Amino acid sequence: MRLRLAADFPHAGFEPGPLARASMSGCGYARLLPVISSLAWVTTAQARGHDVDEPIALRALARAGLAVEVVDWDDPAADWGRFDRVVLRSAWDYPDRMDEFLQWLDRVAALTDLVNPPATVRWSLDKRYLAELADAGIPITPTRFLAPGEAVEFPAGRFVVKPAVGAGGRDASCYAPNQLEQARSHIARLHAAGRVVLVQPFLPSIAELGEWPMVFLGGRFSHSACKRVSLPQAGLVEGLFAAEENSAHAASGEQVAVAQAVVDHLSARLGTPAYARVDLVLGDDGRACVLEVELAEPSLFLPFAEPAGIDQLVWVLSR
Ligand SMILES: Nc1ncnc2c1ncn2[C@@H]1O[C@H](COP(=O)(O)OP(=O)(O)O)[C@@H](O)[C@H]1O
Ligand SMILES: [Mg+2]
Repeated sequence: MRLRLAADFPHAGFEPGPLARASMSGCGYARLLPVISSLAWVTTAQARGHDVDEPIALRALARAGLAVEVVDWDDPAADWGRFDRVVLRSAWDYPDRMDEFLQWLDRVAALTDLVNPPATVRWSLDKRYLAELADAGIPITPTRFLAPGEAVEFPAGRFVVKPAVGAGGRDASCYAPNQLEQARSHIARLHAAGRVVLVQPFLPSIAELGEWPMVFLGGRFSHSACKRVSLPQAGLVEGLFAAEENSAHAASGEQVAVAQAVVDHLSARLGTPAYARVDLVLGDDGRACVLEVELAEPSLFLPFAEPAGIDQLVWVLSR
């Protein structure tokens, strides 16, 4: 870490924390603020060229004077300790290499500042956090959690089967009421691999309207988007992620309140995450509910962020 003049920061719209505000207030000249100078942007070989956030963020971080390198998380030659901060971004193949990835988190966090930190990342890797959020009074997508050995029961109508630990729609499928045998063998396959399974009623609004990723930077709501993912009917997603179609969305007050409740809960438990994404959907009762919380390597939908949101990202990653 080195010290740079606050005036070196050319960006408007920062949200300095209380300490930085105190150090800047009342002075007629620039004061010294600690900011980092080198940052690793962590990806994986298969994701290169696919992350639309990356060019936007890298340009902004470079403008702020940071030396940023894009590094594959599994690059054996990477010297993580020489970066002031390592920022987990498009390491999208980790669900297939979970043990290796968890070891990587701890190894890197012992060498330098890993964003988000391992405990925060681990919390979000297992969708059983939905039960914790429900206990905290936050509306979630109705969910049954089935550990290996537990009896399987299905909701009436169409339903979705997905692993508690999984991403990008991999190993997730939707079933009609006449496909129970297929659903049972899907669950049996996940259970045989020791995986906990989530069963949820199929929410038609997800197919009709999509879902709304709510992006938080430094614990504060920044922007949202509308995302449509095509989940296969009784089939499995091939490749790293299910196809997505994204568009702009102005979040409602209700959506911001639900997503903020998630981030506040999490911040109280594990510290404020540098970035967080809360994916909201419309429940059958017409109200916003949580489908998923992403703290490991969420796409941040930066093409839909205002310039102030990009500044906020730079601030959060560089202070
Ligand atoms: N209960 C549900 N009803 C309808 N579609 C769902 C439901 N759960 C998941 N999906 C679809 O499956 C996709 C992947 O599920 P999600 O819970 O976001 O897990 P992940 O993104 O970690 O794989 C979602 O983007 C959505 O399109
Ligand atoms: Mg998702």
